[in-house]
Amino acid sequence: MYKHLQERYAPRPPVNVASLMRMKSEGEKIACITAYDASFATLVDDAGADLVLVGDSLGMVIQGHDTTVPVTLNDVIYHCQAVARGLYRPFLMADMPFMTYASREQALENAVRLMQEGGAKIVKLEGGAGQVEIVEFLASHDIAVCAHLGLKPQSVHKVGGFRVQGRDEAAAEQMLRDAKALEGAGADVVLLECIPAKLGAEITKALHVPVIGIGAGPDTDGQILVLYDVLNITAGRKPRFSKDFMLGNASPLEAVKAYVQAVKSREYPGPEHCF
Ligand code: KIV
Repeated sequence: MYKHLQERYAPRPPVNVASLMRMKSEGEKIACITAYDASFATLVDDAGADLVLVGDSLGMVIQGHDTTVPVTLNDVIYHCQAVARGLYRPFLMADMPFMTYASREQALENAVRLMQEGGAKIVKLEGGAGQVEIVEFLASHDIAVCAHLGLKPQSVHKVGGFRVQGRDEAAAEQMLRDAKALEGAGADVVLLECIPAKLGAEITKALHVPVIGIGAGPDTDGQILVLYDVLNITAGRKPRFSKDFMLGNASPLEAVKAYVQAVKSREYPGPEHCF
C-alpha cells in the first residue's frame, strides 16, 4: 500500500527532513521533545510537536541512572518501537547510545537496527571533528543524521560534569568549525546543547541545515526539551534551560501544547533559560 502518498496529501502530513528545511527557511520554529513510550508519543503528537526524540536521557529519567552512559542500543530500540507505535506526524529521531558508533561499520550496523527494528527515521550521535567520517559514512548510505554538539552527555566522565560548553573564544570557534564540518559531511540536523546564546545564534546562521537547541538560546531554528522536565516530573534540581509547563495548565496534554506554542511564538526560551 502506498501509505506515503496518502499521507502526503493529508491535512497535517508527517514531518521529514524536507519539511524541517522548509521550516528553517520560512522562519517557523521547530518544536521538538523527547518521548519514551506509546502513550506519551500520542500525547506529544496531539500537542503538535514536530520532532520526537527517543533520547538516551531515558537512562536517567526512565532507568534512574546518573548519566546516559549505561544505556544500550537494545534499550533505545525497545523504547523507539513503543514510541513509533504511538506516533503519526512528528519526525522520529533515535539516539545512538555510548560506544555504538565507535567505527564507521559499527555505526552503520547500529543505525540500521534503530531504523529497521526501532522505526527511527533519523539517528542522532554526539560528536565533533572526530565523528565527521562516521557522519559521512552514514550519509553516504542515505541515513538521515543529527549531529549533537556542545554539552555531550556521553562524555560526562571525560569532561568532568554537565557544564556549559563553548564559553571561551577558542572553544566557540572550534564548535563552529565542527558544526560546518559535520554539515559538510552530510548531517541533516545539528543539535546544540548548553552553549552561550550568542554562539547558538552564530552557528544557526552559519548552517543551511536546521539547528535545534537545548540551552542554546532563542535563535536556533528549533528547541527541544526532555518531556519529563516539561511536565515537571523529574525530581530534584532542573537544568537552567528547562521550564515547568504544568504551571497554569490542567493536564499533561495542555502542558505540552503550551510548550509547543511557546516555542512557535518565540516566548520560550526566555533570557532566564539562556547562558
Ligand atoms: O537524550 C536526550 O534526551 C537528548 C536531549 C537532551 C537533546 O539528547
